[in-house]
Amino acid sequence: MNEHAKPLSLSERADELEERMMHELGERIAVKSTLFNIADGKVEMANGPALKSANPDKYFLMGADPRLPKMPEKPTLIDFFNNRFASLNHLLQSATHALKGGHSEKVVLACLLHDIGVASFIRADHGYWGAQMIEPYVDEEVSWAVRTHQALRFFPDPSVGYEYPEMYIKYFGADYKPEPYIVAEYERAKNHKYYMTSRMICVNDIYSFDPNAKVDLNDFVDIIGRNFRQPEEGLGFDNSPSAHMWRTLMWPTRFL
Ligand SMILES: [Fe+2]
Ligand SMILES: [Fe+2]
Repeated sequence: MNEHAKPLSLSERADELEERMMHELGERIAVKSTLFNIADGKVEMANGPALKSANPDKYFLMGADPRLPKMPEKPTLIDFFNNRFASLNHLLQSATHALKGGHSEKVVLACLLHDIGVASFIRADHGYWGAQMIEPYVDEEVSWAVRTHQALRFFPDPSVGYEYPEMYIKYFGADYKPEPYIVAEYERAKNHKYYMTSRMICVNDIYSFDPNAKVDLNDFVDIIGRNFRQPEEGLGFDNSPSAHMWRTLMWPTRFL
């Protein structure tokens, strides 16, 4: 008989739910935050007391997750690139394109960082998330450009040969229209003094990813060194307004 044919009891369902939201890591239990469950279409959170009583001998994870690459005590931006960003190819290709085009170091850095929201954190509103992460450490021109590329990418600018990306028609359908807050952001940005910096992100945003293109993070170490104020205490431990974001990225499964 198929055991799944019989409906689960309430407590079996609760057990199954808790199982889905945790990982046993030896003596520790890593728990998924609500956001991870929401991304699976379930508005659910782990029940601490229930999990603890089902695992009386174990403690919840309150530090590094052993499944993830180890981070140094005082992590740098480069450490996050190497250990927490899921893909570097697009960022490096865009920055390489900007470098070859003879753009300023601010534009090159903006291209290098423009999608770190996607690479590390979350896709939705990634320009805003990415800008917030870097804001304390870069010139305001760079963070402004990263934030605003979120909106500008949906609007053409013939003066620099930027068209609405063909890829977006394939991805979102021909009738997709950006939400009003994106349109409003674009309207505000149009006459801003840093407009062109952000627009250059769009121009150098390489939409046709070439997995064989030769790109190297080492080509940008000097530009990062000159333009990203790496905190001595390590990213995440410098008490900046975005330090918690870097810490969360470092320890995404801490119970609290
Ligand atoms: Fe982007
Ligand atoms: Fe991009």
